[in-house]
Amino acid sequence: MLISDTPAWKALSEHAQQIRGTHLRELLQDEARCAGLRWEVDGVLLDGSRQNATRQTVDLLVDLARDAGLTRKIKAMANGEKINGTENRAVLHMALRAPRRKSILVDGHDVVPDVHAVLERIKAFSKAVRGGQWKGATGKKLTQIVSIGIGGSYLGPEFVFEAMRTDPGCAKAAKRRTLRFLANVDPIDVTRALADLDPERTLVIVVSKTFTTAETMLNARTVRKWISDALGTEAVAKHMIAVSTNLEAVREFGIDPANAFGFWDWVGGRYSVCSAVGVLPLALHFGYKPVQEFLNGAHAMDRHFLAAPPERNIPALLGLFGVWQSSFLGRPSRALLPYCQSLLKLAPHIQQVDMESNGKRVTADGQVLPFEAGEVDFGEPGTNGQHSFYQLIHQGRVVPCDFIGFRRSQTPVALPGEPVDNHDELMSNFFAQPDALAYGKSEAELQKEGVAPALVPHKVFAGNRPSNVLLLDQLTPYSTGQLLALYEHRTAVQGFVWGVNSFDQWGVELGKVLAKAVRGQLQKSRSANAAVSGFNPATTFLLRSYLGQA
Ligand code: F6P
Repeated sequence: MLISDTPAWKALSEHAQQIRGTHLRELLQDEARCAGLRWEVDGVLLDGSRQNATRQTVDLLVDLARDAGLTRKIKAMANGEKINGTENRAVLHMALRAPRRKSILVDGHDVVPDVHAVLERIKAFSKAVRGGQWKGATGKKLTQIVSIGIGGSYLGPEFVFEAMRTDPGCAKAAKRRTLRFLANVDPIDVTRALADLDPERTLVIVVSKTFTTAETMLNARTVRKWISDALGTEAVAKHMIAVSTNLEAVREFGIDPANAFGFWDWVGGRYSVCSAVGVLPLALHFGYKPVQEFLNGAHAMDRHFLAAPPERNIPALLGLFGVWQSSFLGRPSRALLPYCQSLLKLAPHIQQVDMESNGKRVTADGQVLPFEAGEVDFGEPGTNGQHSFYQLIHQGRVVPCDFIGFRRSQTPVALPGEPVDNHDELMSNFFAQPDALAYGKSEAELQKEGVAPALVPHKVFAGNRPSNVLLLDQLTPYSTGQLLALYEHRTAVQGFVWGVNSFDQWGVELGKVLAKAVRGQLQKSRSANAAVSGFNPATTFLLRSYLGQA
C-alpha cells in the first residue's frame, strides 16, 4: 500500500489544515508545547518548537511512521537484509562503525571482522606513512596527501576533513601536513590540487567504489603522469594507493592490490565516509586516534537511532519533520545553516546524501509515487548565509531551516573592549534568526515604530517560518560523527516513510550515457575533423559552436 493511502497520511493531511490556521508567534508562547518539542541525547539537543507543529502533530507523525513500518525497516537495514532491491544489496554503513563484539551477517557472513581488519590495516599503514617508515621513491617522508574521488568518494571525506582541521588536537596532529581533494574532471581542479605540491613528498589515494568513474579515472591517470614524469614510472608503486571494491580494476590501473584498501558492495557511495574512503585519507592526515573518535560518535548516534522509539528518536524526528514540511505543508526545500565555519562542507555532503537518496519517482517496488519525494538541500555557514540568501527565506519562499550551533568554539577569540567575544557574536545571530523567521514583523508593529507608510509593506515579515535548532557542546571529531550519522539516518527515515529505495541512484545514469556519445563526437571531430552528426538541432548547433565548425 502507498503511504499516501494510509489512515495516518489522511489524518496528517487534515491536521495540516488546522496547523495552517496557527502562527508560530502564538505557538511559541505555550511553554508546555515548547518543552514537549525538545529532545536531547548524548549532548545533541534538538529544539523542534519552531516547527509548525504541536504535540499532536508529533503523535500523528509517529502514527505515520508506524503505518510506514519505520521500525521494521530500520531493523531490516541494521540486520543486513538486502533492502536495496534494485541492486540486490544490503545497506550497512552502520557496520562500518560497529564495535568488534557485534556480529552482522550478510548472506550468512559476519562483516564486522572484515571491517575491523581494514581499519587495522589503515591504522598500521597511516602510522608507517606518518612515522616515515613508508617512504617515497626518493626516500622522503610522504606528508602531502591527494585524495582523488568524486561524489560519495569525495564529499563525505571533505566534510569531515573540514570539520576536524581546526579542532585543536587535530590541528596539532596535522602540523606541516597537507590533505587535498581532487574531484572535478575540470583540468582547473587538478591544477589547483597539485599546485605547490612536491611529487617526492606526495601520496595519492585513488578513491572509487567502482574504479570506473570517468572523472576519477582521468584525474588518476593525470596525476599518475605527474608522478612518473617527475620520479619515473617505478615511483608510482610508492606514491599511489587505492580505495575500492574493485581490486581487479585497481591492479589493471597499475596500483599493487597490496596497497589497496577494500570496502564492500553493502556500503553505498554517499554513505561510505566511515569506510576506507574517508578513514584512510583522514588517518594519514590527522593520525588514527581522532578518526576513531569520529567513528565512535557516529556509532553512538547509531545506537540511539536503533534503540529509541520514534517519538524520542532524534534522527527519526528530524526525518518526520522533513516529511511533514514537504509532503503536508508543501515546502520542498531545506536549508542547512551551521553556525560554525568548520561545517562549511556539511551542506554539499548532505546534498548528495539526501538528494541522491530520496530524489525518486517510484516506490521501492516500482509504483509511481502520487506525491513528490525528496527535498532540495542547500546551505552555508552562518553568518555568510545571512548576507546571501536569507532575504528569500525571510520574505520570499518558505524554506524550513536547520540551525546548527555549538556552545564553545573550536578556536575562541576574544578582543579586549568588545562587548562579547567572537563566538558569542556569531551565536547572537544563531539565536536571533530562528525567532526572526518564526515571529516575523507585522504591519501594526511597523506603524507603531513610525515607519514611513510607503515602506511598511516592504518591511513586513509574515513570520511563521519553521526551523529546527540543534545545539551541541563543541565541534569535535566525536560530534562530527554524531552529526554525520544524524543526517544519514534522517534521510533514511524520510525514504522509509515515503516508501522509496533511498540506496540506489539510477537517475545519474542517463547523463553519463549521453556524455559518451558527445565524447565520441569530440574525439572524431578533433582527430579527423569529422562534422557533428547524430544530435538534435539544438545540441548540434552548440557542439559546432564549441568546436568552431562553421
Ligand atoms: O554520481 C553517481 C555515483 O555513482 C555516486 O553515487 C558515487 O558516490 C559517485 O558516482 C562515485 O562513484 P565511485 O566511488 O564508484 O567512483
